[in-house]
Amino acid sequence: MSGPICGYIMITLHPTLASHADDIAALLNTAFGPGFRARTAERLRENNTAIAALAYIARDQHDALVGSISYWPVRLGRAAGLLLGPLAVDARVQGKGVGVQLMQTTLDLVDPARFAFVILVGDLDYYARMGFATAPAQVHLPGPVDPARLLIRAEESVFEQLSGTLRPAPELC
Ligand SMILES: CC(C)(COP(=O)(O)OP(=O)(O)OC[C@H]1O[C@@H](n2cnc3c(N)ncnc32)[C@H](O)[C@@H]1OP(=O)(O)O)[C@@H](O)C(=O)NCCC(=O)NCCS
Repeated sequence: MSGPICGYIMITLHPTLASHADDIAALLNTAFGPGFRARTAERLRENNTAIAALAYIARDQHDALVGSISYWPVRLGRAAGLLLGPLAVDARVQGKGVGVQLMQTTLDLVDPARFAFVILVGDLDYYARMGFATAPAQVHLPGPVDPARLLIRAEESVFEQLSGTLRPAPELC
């Protein structure tokens, strides 16, 4: 999948393959630091499987892997949704629209009839542009998280009904 020119670099997006695993792991370690597997959101990825059709990488004009995004099936009560992340962009190309392009492309692929909401832990200032808003107070993760960073994207009628503690839902793959 080709992408537009981002700043001074040409980015292309590609479905993630198993062969990308080492490059993605290196990108995530650099972007988040080695401790990120201890974060609460990681509890929702354990014993879970990323949605293959929504996992994408970004390559620069030299074919280097410079970005990655994935989504994981989760439930809040009976509502089926997706946990977005990790999203990471190589520091050398940050601020050139790669993150937004990865998100926009993949969010457009999400079928709201199958996944009624997308949830993530991140900065509202960044994710608001993609339609994310601070989660209702009755939505929780299975561990500590700054409530101001718990963000949800959903139709208003769905958003207002969401409540409970998020849990992995590998059966939705
Ligand atoms: C956050 C991240 C994915 C953004 O990717 P990116 O490709 O650099 O972002 P884009 O170029 O698509 O967007 C840049 C815009 O977002 C803004 N932005 C970037 N990170 C931001 C943040 N944490 N909070 C608010 N705004 C942010 C920039 O100021 C810029 O704004 P502008 O368009 O008004 O100039 C990337 O910086 C990254 O990998 N960071 C380290 C890992 C991380 O924190 N991941 C997110 C976890 S929730």
